[in-house]
Amino acid sequence: MATTVDPTAARRGRFVTFEGVDGAGKSTQIRLLAERLRVLDVTVVLSREPGGSPGAEAVRRLLLEAPPGRWDALSEALLVYAARRDHVLEVIRPALGRGAWVLCDRFADSSRAYQGRAGGVPETVLDMLDDTVLEGLKPDLTLILDLPVRTGLARVEAREPGGRFEAKGEAFQERVREGFRELAHREPGRCRLIDAAPPPDQVAREVWKEVAPLLEDQGGPETPQ
Ligand code: TYD
Repeated sequence: MATTVDPTAARRGRFVTFEGVDGAGKSTQIRLLAERLRVLDVTVVLSREPGGSPGAEAVRRLLLEAPPGRWDALSEALLVYAARRDHVLEVIRPALGRGAWVLCDRFADSSRAYQGRAGGVPETVLDMLDDTVLEGLKPDLTLILDLPVRTGLARVEAREPGGRFEAKGEAFQERVREGFRELAHREPGRCRLIDAAPPPDQVAREVWKEVAPLLEDQGGPETPQ
């Protein structure tokens, strides 16, 4: 079947975000995806939130090095959006403009799940922050790695005993998970829910199934399964 390739598409970067409860394995999956894309000669920029630019990393320290309870959920939202603004202006938009793919460990959906669904910040506030701060920027694809909260917390505890932001407890994390699942349901065009319980290589195959069509859209190289 003949396909029409948008001649500008090959130059346009792609913005792919990874989301999920703590311990879902995002960083492993991002690394595996970056390796696979680089083999195909795709320019990849890896980033994370909160953080990703010098200004945003400074805000990250305010958030993650604070004793539990220092910031209420609205203050957290304002801080993560201040960081996000800097990250978008300094890193994400320039990289997309150069035609790179940006793979980001967490983005605005984390604010919806953590500060919104779990923390109680009203959706109207987050809508306003998105409109003002992101000025229309949306991920092309969001991979939500889904895992039972206990499994995620056990993984985190094994990795870094006595973790900080994760210290909010199981009921909080359950609301976070529910928040992500609702987002996947609400925006099926952009978000994909991926079972993060299987071994990493199996999860990576599921991730690749979702990402490969973005390469084809670009009129890019052959994409082996
Ligand atoms: P990090 O140590 O990077 O955890 P993870 O490996 O699970 O991503 O810490 C990031 C924490 O920040 C994580 O608990 C989720 C939280 N967070 C928010 O609460 N709101 C946000 O908007 C973002 C981006 C992250």
